[in-house]
Amino acid sequence: LLVIDVDETSKNLEQVLVVCDAAKRFDLGRRDVLIALGGGVLSDTVRLAASLIRRGTPHLCVPTTLIGQIDAAIGIKGGVNFQGSKSYLGCFHPPEAVFIDSSLLASLPRPALSDGFAEALKLALGYDRDLFELIADHGRDLVHSGFQTPAPSRDFLLGRCIALTLQGLQEDLWEVGTLRRTLDFGHSFSPLIEARSGFVVSHGQAVAIDIALSACIACELLLLYPEDLTRILDTLTQIGLPVGWAGVDEDLMEASIVAAASHRAGSPNLVVPAGIGRTAFLNGAILDRRLFAGALTRFRAVTASRAALASPHATNWPSPLHLVR
Ligand SMILES: NC(=O)c1ccc[n+]([C@@H]2O[C@H](COP(=O)([O-])OP(=O)(O)OC[C@H]3O[C@@H](n4cnc5c(N)ncnc54)[C@H](O)[C@@H]3O)[C@@H](O)[C@H]2O)c1
Repeated sequence: LLVIDVDETSKNLEQVLVVCDAAKRFDLGRRDVLIALGGGVLSDTVRLAASLIRRGTPHLCVPTTLIGQIDAAIGIKGGVNFQGSKSYLGCFHPPEAVFIDSSLLASLPRPALSDGFAEALKLALGYDRDLFELIADHGRDLVHSGFQTPAPSRDFLLGRCIALTLQGLQEDLWEVGTLRRTLDFGHSFSPLIEARSGFVVSHGQAVAIDIALSACIACELLLLYPEDLTRILDTLTQIGLPVGWAGVDEDLMEASIVAAASHRAGSPNLVVPAGIGRTAFLNGAILDRRLFAGALTRFRAVTASRAALASPHATNWPSPLHLVR
């Protein structure tokens, strides 16, 4: 057994080498198996190590966070941060099997549980209006109960999120196609938000802020009704997620679009909500300074009031210094 103490700030190549070093000491053979027991940071680190050891050693995942159970562990990507860039070094290395047990989430700190709901909302807004309604109705109770009650909602949410993630991945598992992936919703601005905050803003929080910003862009383009924007922000807030961050400005937006294009083979494919349960991809000249300025004004206006009204469960909001004022 190897216990490693990793968080987003120490999710780097050194930790991958710690796993490789243990594999060498334990004399792990080509057909032996690594088992990653932990959250998304851990599974990303172990998966990258497994892909390197003897050019690819099998691994199993037992995810112990909601992000792990509905996203990180069930996909095929592993990776670590490098020189301030999120997930710059990584691999595609599918696990042999993933074991999901929702009772493991009972001990998860509530902010980490809220983080998982950001990925669940990404799926709901991208694919499934009914799932959105379930999160809007029961998300808060699920977070407060450590994801234990109401049990029928928990089981439906878990099963549906896993099915939607697998469906989304199947569209282009190895990312060699058009790279127009609904699963990238919430993941265009979030890498830079995480990195520029020095990883003070967690992955789930950054996804939530990205969803809010993308929804504001959609509103500017009349793709989303303002009432739907309000519902999205209300739901994020209810489940203890932030919707604003003071570091979001036009520079961050433009740099994110450039980075997304570089990551997605030349086209940013910015995913924005086109209603609830549907998305649109934005590319080209429409992504100009005027759009960003309008969206930013709206984003600052709608998120400022929420920072002040942050619920008692708002321990998950980034430190006040980081909030939109
Ligand atoms: N590879 C992918 O496709 C993919 C997809 C989504 C997210 N990710 C990555 O996942 C990471 C976020 O994952 P996360 O939200 O699981 O964070 P995490 O791994 O940092 O875990 C959150 C915290 O909860 C603790 N913890 C884990 N399980 C626990 C339990 N059962 N009880 C008590 N405490 C527990 C951890 O020690 C940690 O402090 C990010 O680095 C993100 O980039 C990867």
